[in-house]
Amino acid sequence: MTMALDGVEVVAGGRRILGPVSFDLEPGSLTAVVGPNGAGKSTLVRAMSGERRLTAGNVRLHGEEVGQTSPGLLAARRAVLPQATTIAFPFTVFEIVGLGLRTRPGLTAARRRAIVAEALAAVDLGDFGPRPYPQLSGGEKQRVQLARVLCQIGAPVEDGRSKLLILDEPTSSLDVRHQIDVLAIARRFADEGGTVVAVLHDLNLAAGFSDRMIVLDSGLVVADGDPAELLPSDVLPRTFGAKMAVLHPPGWRSPVVLPEILGRARVDQRPRSGSPG
Ligand SMILES: Nc1ncnc2c1ncn2[C@@H]1O[C@H](COP(=O)(O)OP(=O)(O)OP(=O)(O)O)[C@@H](O)[C@H]1O
Ligand SMILES: [Mg+2]
Repeated sequence: MTMALDGVEVVAGGRRILGPVSFDLEPGSLTAVVGPNGAGKSTLVRAMSGERRLTAGNVRLHGEEVGQTSPGLLAARRAVLPQATTIAFPFTVFEIVGLGLRTRPGLTAARRRAIVAEALAAVDLGDFGPRPYPQLSGGEKQRVQLARVLCQIGAPVEDGRSKLLILDEPTSSLDVRHQIDVLAIARRFADEGGTVVAVLHDLNLAAGFSDRMIVLDSGLVVADGDPAELLPSDVLPRTFGAKMAVLHPPGWRSPVVLPEILGRARVDQRPRSGSPG
C-alpha cells in the first residue's frame, strides 16, 4: 500500500471542511478525485501531501505519518502539482523546472540538464527552456509546473517503494490534446508502478484515465469505485446537481457523460436544414 488515510478531518474557519475520510491508495493505481467547487478536494490532496495540518486522523505514506516525515524525505517520495502557482519573478523555464531537482542531491550538472530537457519534452515544451516564465500562456505555465513536478518525483518506483504523484487539476488550462497528453503521462507513471491521485473536473477525462474514482461532496466521500460503473449511476447528477446523459460509444472502455445543457441545442428546438425530425 502506498498511502493510508484514517479518519482524516480538517476544520477551518470554525467549520469541518473535510472528513472524516478513510481510504487507501495502492501502487500502480490512478485515482481521480471529482466533486463540486468547495467540496474539499484541494484540502484532501493537501492533507495527503502533508501540506495541510489535520484536525483529526492520520495520513501514512509507506507507513510513516506525513506530518512527522522530514521535508527532504517527503520530497523524495511524493510530488505535488498545486491547483494554482504564482511566480512573478522573471525566471526562465529552465530555472523553474530545475527547482524540481533541488531536492535530488548528487546529480551532475549534465544529468540535471538532461532531466530538465526530458521533462520539458514530455510536456511538449522542448524549445521553451530559455523563455521567461511570466511571459508564457496559462496552459504553457501549467505544463512547465508539471515538468517541475516530474523532475522532483523521478522514477515511479525507487527502493521498492511506489512514489506518489499528487495532481490538483493538472488539465484545467489545457487544450484537449494537451489534456490527453498530460493524463497519459500520469497514466504511464501509474502503469510503471507509481501511485497517482488527480483532482479533475472533466468527468470523462477522469473516467477515461483512472482506474478508481472518488466522489467528494461537502468534505465527505460519497462514492468510491470503478469509473465505468460510477458514470452511469445517479451519483454524479445528484452530487453536481446537473442532469447528465450517459453515452457508451461502441468499443469504448468506459461510458461518457454529457451535461443536459447540451440538450438546449436539440434539433426540434432549433431546427436546421437537413436535420432529421
Ligand atoms: N483556511 C480556510 N479557512 C476557511 N475555509 C476554508 C479554508 N480553506 C478552505 N476553506 C473552505 O473549504 C472548502 C473546501 O475548499 P477546497 O479548496 O478544498 O475545495 P475544492 O473542492 O478544491 O474546490 P475547487 O473545485 O473550487 O478547487 C471551501 O468551501 C473553502 O472555502
Ligand atoms: Mg481545489
